[in-house]
Amino acid sequence: MTIDLEHVKNVGIGAAYGSAGILRRHLGRLKAIQKKGPKDLVTEADLESEKHIVDAIREKFPEHDIFAEESREKNHVESNYRWIIDPLDGTTNFAHQVPIFSISIAFAVSGEIRVGIVLQPISGELFAAVKNKGAWLNDHHINASECRSLSDALLVTGFPYDVKKDSRQYMTRFENMLNASQGVRRLGSAALDLCYVACGRFEGFWEEHLQPWDTAAGALIAEEAGAVVTDFSGFPYTINKREILATNRHLHDEMRTILNF
Ligand code: IPD
Ligand code: CA
Ligand code: CA
Repeated sequence: MTIDLEHVKNVGIGAAYGSAGILRRHLGRLKAIQKKGPKDLVTEADLESEKHIVDAIREKFPEHDIFAEESREKNHVESNYRWIIDPLDGTTNFAHQVPIFSISIAFAVSGEIRVGIVLQPISGELFAAVKNKGAWLNDHHINASECRSLSDALLVTGFPYDVKKDSRQYMTRFENMLNASQGVRRLGSAALDLCYVACGRFEGFWEEHLQPWDTAAGALIAEEAGAVVTDFSGFPYTINKREILATNRHLHDEMRTILNF
């Protein structure tokens, strides 16, 4: 029996909107900010948002596997259907009341991502894609940019929490991209970075050491909008890879060459 992906998407969107209300309520009113590592934060907003999404999915699809950042394998069920969730992508921004963060929900069938949803709770922008059906920002179909010149391109990147480990390498890549492009941003939500490539705001995004929940939804949204998403060697990106390069496709080879300095 095939699963109705439109229904799956609508359940995911409903869960994301519920969690957006939770995040807006907590913004600027956090009671507890804990550290998972020296720079890696978790707040009651991450936990409450995740609980809401997991409960909403469980209610409709009790037989599906759920893999969410804060509970990891705790909701594991043997199933070909798996939800991959980041209940708050951009926790550092959130904790500092910077209104750039998102909720990321993806749905995979036998390991292949088929639905991606990224919601920005402050702007109300909802990015969504279904495999082979295109990508949307709210009611509009979106496409990656047609820019063909790196010197006119606006790029975005991010840095892992243990940035100290390889900081020289990250900085060299950053500097080389900065010199070659019109500018480089660091927004702090990888899911939004990918969606902004999808809708043509950025021409390219690269980052290392991301986790499956950071990219599962955004990578599908970017691909469905015509972006190319690979690792730094040019092989197709999968969510278990530790490097990602997403571009509007015209600038892919040039950016890849810069990353492999
Ligand atoms: C982080 C964001 C950020 C990226 C970090 C991620 P979190 O996710 O996506 O943009 O640079 O590497 O860990 O921790 O806020 O969910
Ligand atoms: Ca994240
Ligand atoms: Ca998170």
